[in-house]
Amino acid sequence: MLEIVEHDIVIVGGGGAGLRAAIAAVEADPAASVAMISKVYPMRSHTVSAEGGAAAVAREDDNFEMHGYDTVKGSDFLGDQDVIQYFVEQAPRELTRLEHWGCPWSRNEDGSVATRAFGGMSTKRTWYAADKVGFHMLHALFQHSLRFDRIVRYDEQFVTKLVVVDGAVRGVVALDVREGNMRLFLGRAVILTTGGAGKIFPFTTNGNIKTGDGMALAYREGVALKDMEFVQYHPTGLPGTGILITEGTRGEGAYLKNGRGERFLIEYDHGVGHKAELGPRDMISRAIIREMEAGRGVESEWGLVVHLDLTHIGEERIMSKLPMVRELCQIYVHVDPVHEPIPVRPVVHYMMGGVDVDIDGATSLPGLYAAGETACASLNGANRLGSNSLTECLVFGARAGQHAIAFAKGSSGANQSACQDIAEQESARIESLRARKGGSERIAGLRAEMHHSMETGCGVYREQDSMDDTVRKTTELRERYAALKLEDDSRVFNTELIAALELGNMLLVAEAVAVSASHRHESRGAHARRDQPTRDDQNFLYHTLCHWDSGGPRLDRKDVTLGKWEPEERKY
Ligand code: FUM
Repeated sequence: MLEIVEHDIVIVGGGGAGLRAAIAAVEADPAASVAMISKVYPMRSHTVSAEGGAAAVAREDDNFEMHGYDTVKGSDFLGDQDVIQYFVEQAPRELTRLEHWGCPWSRNEDGSVATRAFGGMSTKRTWYAADKVGFHMLHALFQHSLRFDRIVRYDEQFVTKLVVVDGAVRGVVALDVREGNMRLFLGRAVILTTGGAGKIFPFTTNGNIKTGDGMALAYREGVALKDMEFVQYHPTGLPGTGILITEGTRGEGAYLKNGRGERFLIEYDHGVGHKAELGPRDMISRAIIREMEAGRGVESEWGLVVHLDLTHIGEERIMSKLPMVRELCQIYVHVDPVHEPIPVRPVVHYMMGGVDVDIDGATSLPGLYAAGETACASLNGANRLGSNSLTECLVFGARAGQHAIAFAKGSSGANQSACQDIAEQESARIESLRARKGGSERIAGLRAEMHHSMETGCGVYREQDSMDDTVRKTTELRERYAALKLEDDSRVFNTELIAALELGNMLLVAEAVAVSASHRHESRGAHARRDQPTRDDQNFLYHTLCHWDSGGPRLDRKDVTLGKWEPEERKY
């Protein structure tokens, strides 16, 4: 028997963007009821793992113009300038508001908010709470959300489908992971805030939960995924695990060194100029790969790495500003950064692309909104600057929450029996997947092939042939997924079933990344082609839209919103 639950709006995802959206919605309309559905307990959302900080103008030597320009330039001129303008103006308000809700930003001696330098930013504008920023931000948001009894949480529920009736979204269908039953959540607006999809790659800073669920939900219903070719590699991941070593280390003065002990960003021309270790992520990741290819990497038990050297910073400063970095290095690579350099290599960290939304977080499907890494509002263009994304979750989570509740108030209720029909069909689909014994394909096998193909075709550097191979491979894997075989047909915490659903989502997203990448015949931001190494504004200054159409991806394009900053050569 299908349980039916009704709220004014339904939020899928309980991380930074989801919690901020929920709070904004009930603040805008205290009578509104909000369902917050998350596949994990909210404090386990991936926001918790963010380390280095959140960007907003705070100092006298800074202003909105500078933050705006840095973001536009960092985006390699693919960011929408109206979105960027709104973002930089709202950023300080959001971070201050979060402090009022309990976020303990680190302070200077005089009591003002402390800020650190981050890559591609022209001054210190990254607010931090030592190196556990995500934990403190998520904690403040979660605690604050508990004040509102109109926010009703549904933890450990996996949303498998959006309910679309008469051309508008009317709710979602979810699998209760704890009990194995299905539930129909009716709502007059839905906000997707499920994070990114780093797990389509083998080596990533992303937690296991980041499987592109929200992207796939929207994509299946005909909403475009935008700019999916732009995948961010963070320059400093721990080899082996991919655990993030925050850019805050370089903000506090750490050096990157090659196998000869040289600060290679200064010694060799890697395009980051005077910024050196504080260059943008796309350029530094490429510089590391080039050092390795030139035979100047460091051999290690995990293969080639470079060194991140904090030894000159001193124990006292490391313990006050970067204590978790020290702990992570000691546990995972048996290195104490007070005394030895940290082995690091570039690691998949963030998707610039996502569900195509406007500045209000609205998609092309009436009633459907998205915010945070799931969404692509075109704040980040072809390359995000470190520390803009936590702030993005707040600024655009809040805006999506406000607009979704306004939409819901103006929208009539759904035709419940049509919604129920969709939910019954979806329940039957999940039941048949749970019991599927006859197939020939295994989750681990398909996932491993996807990982290999994504790393080979859509890595730091790309070429037409390998991207085309990845397109073919991801399409083949998506088709082979239909023959998936599962071993476990139990109902309670059936993690194999969840893994199967996540794999289905990842395969769709991976194919969208590969197809979008293979059609951009230029290099821009994180999309770096060896065979087409320059940017081509004449032909490619547009956003890529990838639609799910007649059983496969179809590409389209959308104009970039320019403004006062005309595209120019991106030099640092
Ligand atoms: O390096 C970091 O702390 C990451 C920050 C970010 O991705 O914004």
